[in-house]
Amino acid sequence: MNGKTNSTMAHEQQTIVFTREQIACRVEELGKQITAEYAGREKNQSLVLLCVLNGAFIFAADLCRAIDLDVELDFIRVKSYGDATRSSGSIDLVKSAELDVTQKDIILIEDIVDSGHTAAWLTHHFKDAGASSVKLCALIDKTERRETEVAIDYAGFAAEQGFLVGYGLDYAERYRNLPDIVSLEE
Ligand code: IMP
Ligand code: MG
Repeated sequence: MNGKTNSTMAHEQQTIVFTREQIACRVEELGKQITAEYAGREKNQSLVLLCVLNGAFIFAADLCRAIDLDVELDFIRVKSYGDATRSSGSIDLVKSAELDVTQKDIILIEDIVDSGHTAAWLTHHFKDAGASSVKLCALIDKTERRETEVAIDYAGFAAEQGFLVGYGLDYAERYRNLPDIVSLEE
């Protein structure tokens, strides 16, 4: 299902970058990898999956069901100021986690790491909050515009460029419901 698709939406052409089948396959692999790496921990040590709203909501929903472990799940929301397609690096926590994260193992679930500012900020934030460990799982590692070094422990796909939407990712809150991940072209 690669290639161009016609659309009735504002952007005339959307080139499919990752198909729904590729995404499903990769999410299963990430779930197995996380399951294997956390399986041997002490029984009383909780693993908390923190879904970064809004973009990661579909990814987190699929990924948590591919993880065969006892997990807690919570949601956080950050706002990064900038224009529609580029982060300024200034970040506000709009909705914090409701679970107590102290002494817990955390995996942040992000849709895409672009400049790296959001992921770096969140990692520091939860380390400061007293988490035992903070790892980062991002569906897409977009390297072209990286400004802050950030370790992505579990990366779904690498993408070099383009503005990607679908499977939860948006442009001005639109396109989140597309089942494939596509690149917008005007
Ligand atoms: P950062 O630049 O790494 O801080 O990324 C901040 C946020 O910008 C990400 O969590 C996404 O929500 C959004 N973002 C960055 N690149 C894209 C893209 O290609 N498509 C959709 N959202 C993006
Ligand atoms: Mg995001």
